Amino acid sequence: MKAYLDNSATTPLDPLVLAELERVYNNVPGNASSLYSLGLEAEQELKRCRETLAGFLGVSAKEIYFASGGTETNNLAIWGAASARRRQGKHLITTAVEHPSVLRVFQALEEEDWQVTYLPCDREGKIQPRRLQAAVRDDTVLVSTMFVNNETGAIAPLAELSRVLRERKQGLPLWHVDAVQGFGRLEIKPSELGIDLLSLSGHKIHAPKGVGALYCRSGVHLKPLFHGGQQEHALRPGTENVAGIAALRKAAELAFTARETTIKRLGQFKTRLRACAESCGGIVNGPLDETAAPYILNLSFPGVPAEVLLHSLDAREIYVSTGSACSSRQKTPSHVLSAMRVDQDQLKSAVRLSLSRLTREEEVEYACQVLPQVVAELRAIYGARSQH
Ligand SMILES: Cc1ncc(COP(=O)(O)O)c(C=O)c1O
Repeated sequence: MKAYLDNSATTPLDPLVLAELERVYNNVPGNASSLYSLGLEAEQELKRCRETLAGFLGVSAKEIYFASGGTETNNLAIWGAASARRRQGKHLITTAVEHPSVLRVFQALEEEDWQVTYLPCDREGKIQPRRLQAAVRDDTVLVSTMFVNNETGAIAPLAELSRVLRERKQGLPLWHVDAVQGFGRLEIKPSELGIDLLSLSGHKIHAPKGVGALYCRSGVHLKPLFHGGQQEHALRPGTENVAGIAALRKAAELAFTARETTIKRLGQFKTRLRACAESCGGIVNGPLDETAAPYILNLSFPGVPAEVLLHSLDAREIYVSTGSACSSRQKTPSHVLSAMRVDQDQLKSAVRLSLSRLTREEEVEYACQVLPQVVAELRAIYGARSQH
């Protein structure tokens, strides 16, 4: 038995998405920029995906731009917006709990003399709208906040953040939302909230790695990261990944069709995993109520080092992570849990379990059977060590 519980790092390819990839690789060989019929067929695949994503987001198809995924679209949105608005101000706002693909861009912009405010979070990892209200200035050109936190599952209070920004009569900043961990699972309508830029990534919803999209509201000007041809209106030049984009469309269709039943089922799995973890001394990091996504569960087992727990579970073919995939090879403790002021023991013993539409009940049951045994074994070792 195996249990893949690291779906926030990446999700397995859905077999129906793989079939779509094969269809396009086998039947649509053209370059979408070519003027002859093979090119037009490829262009048609891009159009279908643009329309599908736009439909789900409630925006216009011409506001969807394809790129390689979340990291690139976060960079393009943030760096692109700041660079295009250089003359209008010098202040930017983000939060302390963003993904590295957002935080590192802001750090790079600080080196270019931008002033950046990093909003703190509360003990559950949530951003309080009053913090945004206090931070926003007349010279703030961009605010970037995530939708669902990849480590704790905390869902940002986007409606309240939207209200804060909309109340401003002057100096209205652009608003970017990293929706990589929410798109396809929880509803988000950028135009209703006043979001100007939104990033999403295929491999978190059972599409292949290396494909994603940016929603960029009509009228918002970004400086491109790359220079080249006219693809994606020259905002993201480079021959489009036609098969990957068709696969992204298929994955989004499957995600949206099953969204409500998936969320309900994953909520039950999460409740089961949480009860199992708490029965062996586990503590939940992050919100305990419906303000946490039902597919991410961050747990600490004080006294049990997270890495040792991860490897012990790995030996039993249960896959979890100690932080976001991009930083989990780093030895520094999670910046998200640190910002939540989680105590040291909890920080060092935190693991993340994350679920997806393709998570099966047997996997959850298997994890619930093994986890208490492994935690007890490790407690016996590490508890005994700490007494010496
Ligand atoms: C919240 C968040 N943003 C951005 C990314 C980066 O996305 P990608 O892997 O498509 O570059 C991730 C990936 O883990 C993420 O969780």
